[in-house]
Amino acid sequence: METLLLPFSPRFIVLTICAVVTALLIAIGIADRKIFDILLVPILIFAALTLLGVRDLLQKSHAVLRNYPISAHIRFLLEEIRPEMRQYFFESEKDGMPFSRDTRAVVYQRAKMELDKRPFGTQEDVYREGYEWMHHSVSPKAHAREKFRVAIGGPDCAKPYSASVFNISAMSFGALSPNAVRALNAGAKKGGFAHDTGEGGVSPYHREMGGDIIWEIGSGYFGCRHRDGTFDPEAFARVAGEDQIKMVELKISQGAKPGHGGVLPAAKVSEEISKIRGVAMGEDCISPASHRAFSTPVGMMQFIAEMRRLSGGKPAGFKLCIGHPWEFLAICKAMMETGIYPDFIVIDGNEGGTGAAPLEFMDHLGMPMREGVNFVHNALVGINARDRIKIGASGKIATAFDMARAMAIGADWCNSARGFMFSLGCIQSLSCHTDRCPTGVATQDPTRARALYVPLKIDRVQNYHHATLHSLTELIAAAGLEHPQQLRPIHFSQRTSTTQVQSFAQLYPALRPGELLEGTEDPRFRDGWRMARSETFQPAL
Ligand SMILES: Cc1cc2nc3c(=O)[nH]c(=O)nc-3n(C[C@H](O)[C@H](O)[C@H](O)COP(=O)(O)O)c2cc1C
Ligand code: SF4
Repeated sequence: METLLLPFSPRFIVLTICAVVTALLIAIGIADRKIFDILLVPILIFAALTLLGVRDLLQKSHAVLRNYPISAHIRFLLEEIRPEMRQYFFESEKDGMPFSRDTRAVVYQRAKMELDKRPFGTQEDVYREGYEWMHHSVSPKAHAREKFRVAIGGPDCAKPYSASVFNISAMSFGALSPNAVRALNAGAKKGGFAHDTGEGGVSPYHREMGGDIIWEIGSGYFGCRHRDGTFDPEAFARVAGEDQIKMVELKISQGAKPGHGGVLPAAKVSEEISKIRGVAMGEDCISPASHRAFSTPVGMMQFIAEMRRLSGGKPAGFKLCIGHPWEFLAICKAMMETGIYPDFIVIDGNEGGTGAAPLEFMDHLGMPMREGVNFVHNALVGINARDRIKIGASGKIATAFDMARAMAIGADWCNSARGFMFSLGCIQSLSCHTDRCPTGVATQDPTRARALYVPLKIDRVQNYHHATLHSLTELIAAAGLEHPQQLRPIHFSQRTSTTQVQSFAQLYPALRPGELLEGTEDPRFRDGWRMARSETFQPAL
């Protein structure tokens, strides 16, 4: 009896109705041939739904469809449009992940040169735990007239680069569309700042626009590799020597997926990508998790020296998200032992973005940006190398306050990836990994990429940079300072409980110059320093 009633249970009733209506309509149409033509469309619709229901019932990959034929598609549809529904109807100004509506809005407004002020007062709960603020001065300074810049290049660098304190973080052509690369690079040129290529190589779209480039190479050595995927020094020298390339950067890891590597499937290796990256068509394009050009801290420093030499003396550095503390300290020991110091180090936080990464990697692997920047800053102070190495920071830096805070705890400059994506029109639809980007930013589909109108977006990229630096200028002046390099931890506070406030100076204690060399008792460094060895990344236990 139960089995007989099954078609009338709520689970299957939609399919039953469709089947019955189809049969009824066909019967009526046959009985009265004059109205068959009128009934044809409804018959086709209900017949198609019935077929869909039967297919749902028989398929094996979706349990919910087997139990709820036809009706479960509504659930899938709602799931699909959930992020948009949340964004449009339910998100408050401070909600929205990874970036709040408020942060996105301020980037859009600055990019469009619209009014970026807010009325009536802060919407922040200034008494919540974790709330942070910057200290102002009773005697603010006049606004700096020059745009803030930082000189990158230590004593071994023949061609130092004067970089803006705000630059476009590494994102590859491949992850980004040709139009996005064009607009970013031309925006960087107009605004006098730098554009990092990401590990996907220097594309014709970078070259077409002529903006300053930081050329990043990852473990795939794209654009400078032999046929077998190993590093090709001659190919590297050819590209690195180009005028447009201002600095060369070795990618060790990125915060969203440190230690993961990547694969671009053969099907996506177009002729264009194969040419730019120097990889074979029809084969998977692999970025291994680790480098083949070196395997020890000393080897890594020698490779940095080689990159600097091959580029004709341009600043050479590396980018990483901090993992095991002793590994970075081993790199410090290798610097001292070889006498080879990178010109810069970019610290990416685990809050950083990516085109696609496993959830566990994004959520729980790697040190967040602030701890990472402060750790590296202190380590370099501790070995007396801070003066010759500049530190860049990336990880959800989109506003002037984000920049000031990162610079107070050790960064010399900041990079933004997703901030600049917003300036291009990214709406945080979170579908970069599907190649169905609705705004033409993160896609290789030309019919979607055309949505990004390059001449307009060039100005938006430049405007966003300009307005953010203007806001930084105002913050610095309000704090009674002249340059963000004067920012220190004492300029910031954090509410650590409803009744307690701590200065960043307490939260991010400083090492004394040379303290690691003297033997530190600081628990953040003591054990790591002891375990670190320049000849291997393995700890001495
Ligand atoms: C679409 C996309 C592609 C990226 N590609 C690279 C890359 O090729 N190399 C790299 O070092 N980082 C890459 N990143 C990481 C960014 O450079 C940056 O470090 C990270 O997103 C943090 O900055 P953000 O919070 O401003 O986005 C990528 C990020 C995004 C969003
Ligand atoms: S609009 Fe969506 S898919 Fe496109 S870049 Fe932004 S988050 Fe990625």
